[in-house]
Amino acid sequence: MQIINGQAVAAYIKQQAKKECEVLSEAGKTPGLAVIIVGEDPASLVYVKNKITACKEVGINSFCYKLPADTDESTISDLIEKFNNDQNVDGILVQLPLPKTLNERSILSKIDVGKDVDGFSAEQMGKLLLGEGCLSSCTPSGVIQLLKYYNIPIAGKKAVIVGRSNTVGKPMALMLLSEDATVTICHSRTQNLSEITKTADILVVAIGKGKFIKRDMIKEGAVVIDVGMNRIDGKLCGDVDFDAVSEKCSFITPVPGGVGPMTVAMLINNTVQSAKTRMN
Ligand code: GUN
Repeated sequence: MQIINGQAVAAYIKQQAKKECEVLSEAGKTPGLAVIIVGEDPASLVYVKNKITACKEVGINSFCYKLPADTDESTISDLIEKFNNDQNVDGILVQLPLPKTLNERSILSKIDVGKDVDGFSAEQMGKLLLGEGCLSSCTPSGVIQLLKYYNIPIAGKKAVIVGRSNTVGKPMALMLLSEDATVTICHSRTQNLSEITKTADILVVAIGKGKFIKRDMIKEGAVVIDVGMNRIDGKLCGDVDFDAVSEKCSFITPVPGGVGPMTVAMLINNTVQSAKTRMN
């Protein structure tokens, strides 16, 4: 069994982005990322801090706006509009989840498609569905990068995704399909879940339930990718019961240090690519 080192792969991707960033900056185009966070969700505050730190490491200018939880939609839309028209901003990110009082889809739809570095807009999602090049969602594209970095074959393999969110499950399925995997999506209403997960050569889990995937739910030699980030008794853990499962698989991502750093690295990469496109 090999533990996939997301921290190391993310560091490599950020290093590449840094080189590209230097070239852009010398040509007078320092990439810029605008981040909007609404409310005080503790996990979101940590994620945003990590994203801003990564921008600094790589040489991307970041503009972070922390808004109170009771901010109305028009205030956020106005801010997005300002960033849409700002030449110094190449990427706009609205950290999710937003407070329940706000309409997430409506707010995300205000972001200029060319600056949608999260790939959450209907247009980017549509392009992903059609297999056209686009700025694609950071977490699932980070998973694909991890599989490729470790030379894990995808084509022809049976990939099972547990979770059907717009941010991970659905784009993950489309990306694995683009790589010629045979893809199954499972979710909270799936019957006989473990019968399906046991068929997976590649199992991607993104359901937000700590240590949900147990040893008897996977096939011997499976590649297990854990997108979860939960706390049990104050301790960080993924959606996979790592200790129980790890000896049975060929590769597994740890939590922390697996998929999480890749989300940040792909955001950085998308921001640099967006700046490059804007410069041309
Ligand atoms: N919340 C959890 N993951 C993400 C992400 O990748 N992007 C944004 N904007 N919010 C998130």
